[in-house]
Amino acid sequence: MTYNFDEIVERRGTHSYKWDYLEELFGDEKLLSMWVADMDFKSPEPVIEAIIERARHGVFGYTGREDGFYQSVMDWLCEQHGWETEKEWFVTTPGVLTAVFAAVNALTEPGDNIVLQPPVYYPFFSVIEENGRHVKRNPLKIEDGKYVMDFDNLKELVDDRTRMLILCSPHNPVSRVWEKETLHQLGRFCLENDIFVLSDEIHSDLVFAGNQHTPFLEAAPEFSNNSLVTVSPSKTFNLAGLSISSMVIPDESIRKRVVAAVNSSHHSRQNLFGIEAFEVAYKQGREWYEQMMAYVWENYRFMVDFIQERLPRLKVFPLEGTYLVWVDFRGLGKSTEEIGRICLKEAGLALDEGHIFGPEGEGFQRFNIACSRKLLKEAMERLEKAIKDQTPAPKT
Ligand SMILES: Cc1ncc(COP(=O)(O)O)c(C=O)c1O
Repeated sequence: MTYNFDEIVERRGTHSYKWDYLEELFGDEKLLSMWVADMDFKSPEPVIEAIIERARHGVFGYTGREDGFYQSVMDWLCEQHGWETEKEWFVTTPGVLTAVFAAVNALTEPGDNIVLQPPVYYPFFSVIEENGRHVKRNPLKIEDGKYVMDFDNLKELVDDRTRMLILCSPHNPVSRVWEKETLHQLGRFCLENDIFVLSDEIHSDLVFAGNQHTPFLEAAPEFSNNSLVTVSPSKTFNLAGLSISSMVIPDESIRKRVVAAVNSSHHSRQNLFGIEAFEVAYKQGREWYEQMMAYVWENYRFMVDFIQERLPRLKVFPLEGTYLVWVDFRGLGKSTEEIGRICLKEAGLALDEGHIFGPEGEGFQRFNIACSRKLLKEAMERLEKAIKDQTPAPKT
């Protein structure tokens, strides 16, 4: 079937975190919302149908996961990334952050150090710090207009309390899809230094324009006893509110430790609609997924053309992966506060400000473009007006 991603689905009044809490979170309920990472699109039709069908049954008791559940994700990973997995490797949790929480607690001790590469998805900081571990920061560098990992700094900063590195692959918010060679170099370094790699691959299906995602566990066979990968249908098929994801852990002893942590917090059970949606999305969601990817890519092209033509002092980073576009506002010559004020107060946009991903993000804004083109166009026009009003063009 052909999906219509231009359709405006009214999300206000659905307890949507993105649309119904703007007053509380940003101080203005009328903003255009482009912050938290979910899509404004309806999920694939087979998923909607399956949930309706399940709801009609009317009995919502405790629910388990059958073979079909595992087969669906194994087939998807194989088709999508050429990655052969086994049913036993999957450890399912109500979300990726729950998985990160369990892995941090299972595989490190309070007082240990965990490496993050900011600017990066900010809840990683709190999972580490609120569990009595410390963040070691290895900021990404910009080289020739591209974010890269800083291996020299990484060598300098690790010490004998450094036990884990959380990799964001693809990297939210800078939208990088890490090359196999980079993953290989990182994995080798971590193996040599006894640092476990938790590779968060929640965005791994959202990869564009000739980029190729490599599951970390596939970068080299020897990484399998020193890493785990998180996968989820929640970004791919817009199911975040159904709270379900999985870890892939081939090494049995590591898996046992992580499972014990998951069980100790009673996170091993999931919502039955999540279980249903997970299986159906991976089995029957491809048609929707391909059309969605094409639409989001067109959104990105629209945004890049608009900015190049009408807001040339902004710089858009290449969208390699995710539907989150990272835009450099530093060319405006304004402070971080001013940039934030222009976007929020003048343009009326609810965005994720770059600095929340770490000080390396100062002067940047992250735009979620998984929305209708109409909304994106309005956002761009509002931004153009706000910037032109605030920053008269230099006299020539
Ligand atoms: C990199 C990354 N990891 C994890 C999450 C959250 O995942 P979950 O809702 O499954 O906890 C997000 C959500 O935006 C994300 O971008």
